[in-house]
Amino acid sequence: MVKLSRRKFITKSIAIVPTIGLLTSCKSNLIASPLKGPIVVSTWDSGLEVNKVAWEILGKGGKAIDAVEKGANSIENQINCCVGLGGNPDRDGYVTLDACIMDENHNCGSVAFLEQIKHPISVARKVMEKTPHVMLVGEGALQFAMENGFVQEPKTLSKPAEKEYKNWLKKSEYKPIINIELGQGKEHFKNQDVPKKLENGNFNHDTMGLVALDSTFNLSGACTTSGMGFKMRGRVGDSPIIGAGLFVDNEIGAATSSGQGEEVIRICGTHLVVELMRNGNSPYEACKKAIERLVNINKKKARDFQVGFLALNKAGEYGAYAVQPGFSFSVTSSDNGGKTYNAESYFK
Ligand code: GLY
Repeated sequence: MVKLSRRKFITKSIAIVPTIGLLTSCKSNLIASPLKGPIVVSTWDSGLEVNKVAWEILGKGGKAIDAVEKGANSIENQINCCVGLGGNPDRDGYVTLDACIMDENHNCGSVAFLEQIKHPISVARKVMEKTPHVMLVGEGALQFAMENGFVQEPKTLSKPAEKEYKNWLKKSEYKPIINIELGQGKEHFKNQDVPKKLENGNFNHDTMGLVALDSTFNLSGACTTSGMGFKMRGRVGDSPIIGAGLFVDNEIGAATSSGQGEEVIRICGTHLVVELMRNGNSPYEACKKAIERLVNINKKKARDFQVGFLALNKAGEYGAYAVQPGFSFSVTSSDNGGKTYNAESYFK
């Protein structure tokens, strides 16, 4: 395993950019112009708005850790299927939230199975900064949040979540193998290729993961979700697990994931992506190889779930890859003003 100093890594990255550029004509295999200043990448089309909020901090020379927290907060404020208190509930009708955050010094914090708190990512940051631990869950996480000034919100479901839950209750079909976060079963799965616009104008989407590089070349990341809709009570996915939903190594790069958490956990997905970058792969190649590793465990089963990885390296290069078509990601830097791309996928 090669460990590169930041300077060596950046030099090496610049040297390989033209080659990768030639190899990657598809717009999803992007290479950002390296070293042009801060950059933030996030999962899904909805990431564009999240990036805008993060950019308010990054663009002024602020810290990546503050940018990713504020970006995550912005989507936690919205009503959508898969992030924050407006998200779909578990099969008993309760919304439970998972989130984690990691900075440039391997500091990390996480909450899981947290209820009634609007901003799980900020609680995760408090866990990181104010406790000797990395992860708090359930009642303990709620108690800690309240002790730190977070308000306990009512247990009511958002209107779209209530409607989805009532629909789900008609069959109460529980199929964790083929469940993905936007619903149950293959039919629903087929319908989620393109993020759906909800009645309130927001996009339906999946877990929000974002990673950022700031003007001092420090990396941080955040990941927040209400998890798989209609999951078993107590189920926790990849999003609050460092090395699964999010991993940051300030020498190399950072990665985040979206999709069926069980599958991501199985291969310590984002840690794997970062290690693949450490071994010389571009972010795109690292995400692709991690997805191939996952698919090759059981190709037949992989046809029925979605996972997407998104990575950013220390040189400001980024890339993504998914199991199925439909995974998108958003990129904001000083020279692009914010763009969304479709990731390539293993199955076409
Ligand atoms: N990726 C989010 C989850 O599986 O809960």
